[in-house]
Amino acid sequence: MAMENINPTGTAAWKELQKHYADMQNASMQEMFAADNNRSEKFHIQWNNFLVDYSKNIVNERTLDLLVKLAGESGLAAAIDSYFAGDAINRTENRAVLHTALRTPQTADVKVDGENVMPEVFSVKSKIQEFCNDIINGTRKGYTGKTFTDVVNIGIGGSDLGPAMVVEALAYYRNHLNVRFISNVDGDHVMESLKGLNPETTLFVIVSKTFTTQETLSNAQTVREWFLKSGSQQDVAKHFVAVSTNIGKVTEFGIDKNNIFPMWDWVGGRFSLWSAVGLSISLSVGFDNFDKLLKGAHDMDEHFRTAQHDKNIPVVLALLSIWYNNFFGAESEALIPYTQYLQKLAPYLQQGIMESNGKSVDRNGNTVDYQTGTIIWGEPGTNSQHAFFQLIHQGTKLIPTDFIGFVAPLHGNKDHHDKLMSNFFAQTEALLNGKTEAQVEAEFAKQGIDGDKAAFLLPFKVFTGNKPTNTLLIDKLTPEALGSLIALYEHKIFVQGVIWNIFSYDQWGVELGKQLANSILDEINSGDVKQHDNSTEFLLKYFLKNRK
Ligand code: F6P
Repeated sequence: MAMENINPTGTAAWKELQKHYADMQNASMQEMFAADNNRSEKFHIQWNNFLVDYSKNIVNERTLDLLVKLAGESGLAAAIDSYFAGDAINRTENRAVLHTALRTPQTADVKVDGENVMPEVFSVKSKIQEFCNDIINGTRKGYTGKTFTDVVNIGIGGSDLGPAMVVEALAYYRNHLNVRFISNVDGDHVMESLKGLNPETTLFVIVSKTFTTQETLSNAQTVREWFLKSGSQQDVAKHFVAVSTNIGKVTEFGIDKNNIFPMWDWVGGRFSLWSAVGLSISLSVGFDNFDKLLKGAHDMDEHFRTAQHDKNIPVVLALLSIWYNNFFGAESEALIPYTQYLQKLAPYLQQGIMESNGKSVDRNGNTVDYQTGTIIWGEPGTNSQHAFFQLIHQGTKLIPTDFIGFVAPLHGNKDHHDKLMSNFFAQTEALLNGKTEAQVEAEFAKQGIDGDKAAFLLPFKVFTGNKPTNTLLIDKLTPEALGSLIALYEHKIFVQGVIWNIFSYDQWGVELGKQLANSILDEINSGDVKQHDNSTEFLLKYFLKNRK
């Protein structure tokens, strides 16, 4: 079953939302809170260990009704069924989008082209489990008989960002293995990453879905050369493993057949951390924790698949984002986790969100005349408060922000956690209420500031507030909770793609840069600059003339 092609702007709900926006654009959240003591009771969803309070948004009940109506008119329910059923919803590549199958229980029957993929999924999972156990407990050793101490993941984009983000996020649960990530083709990055490593005790995991990515193959080559300065060609089999769909290319590279972890073309790179692409996660925290991560994601899949739209966390967050993106004209969204462990969550989701929904052609092949993908950015709080929060509070741009916090810390330091969380709550409150003239004047009176000085300072110290935020309060940063959180954002991406009527699972724009880089590399190698636009030609000639 194909997804329907519905231009969202042609739906009745969109037209009603446009009218409704005229009433809401200057609505005051402070006034809505003042008029309704039950506002957060109405606008929150409690699910498992997640409390999602979305009451601090410029919405009322009608806004939510209309947004849910938009989802209905866009065919969201049928699209969700197609997604989970393994239909080829990635139509430009004629592929299913089934990262959800990677976290589905073994007894399920998930078909791709009429074949149940679960036996294969579980056979790879067993291989991951066995391999990780052997490396962690020292049964499997390096070429001089020493146990492994370090793991280096070599991959880029989806073959790097997800594993790197989760390894850092679950650092509390990690074992003795140190895991590093080499991604950029920048040779300095490679050499810095190899510093201090002992080839005898280092395992290299080359991750590339296609096994054709220039960066990863060059880095893998360089790392193998580095390894061969100590070990022999024969020893490579003990130290290099690969994750890929392209078994032929991996074998050509010289990786032992037993050291290949397969994946499938129905798993998009940016959604692949649940597959063998997550090998470095499983090495870092053990297979049991990796499996808990998958379990948490599956729980969120079930919530998303079955909860009615107005009680469905990914759906509601996706709709609120559409409200600001398409009606208020917001250009970006911020994501602020109040834990340093989630430092890489925003960069990870930048690929998920912007590579998926950065599209300007709809599913009919027509150029859209409405806004699609949002720009996503963020850094952990409280650091971000001391960096860019000024612009969110008092700048001219509307930046809806998700705040993600945890009720309990992992190391149990209550004093620090209470300070951290008091900032978490204070920021959303400040963004909601701002500071009125009367409040600033009262402060001045206390501080003895009056007359011309008070009059001069007043406008700078007033905050309008009325800045929308979602608060995601989660019990604890466990592997399960992290799995649910990542799956939540994956499904938010899906919902937005459905409503914007775009294909979220291809990335042709990125492919163009890859093609051009290859032909420019030939020109750099030969020194023969071909015809380009005047600027590129000028720059290339300058580069060739001045490089040492
Ligand atoms: O950046 C484009 C992209 O194709 C991503 O979608 C993908 O995650 C990344 O390159 C790496 O690709 P591969 O895993 O095939 O090396």
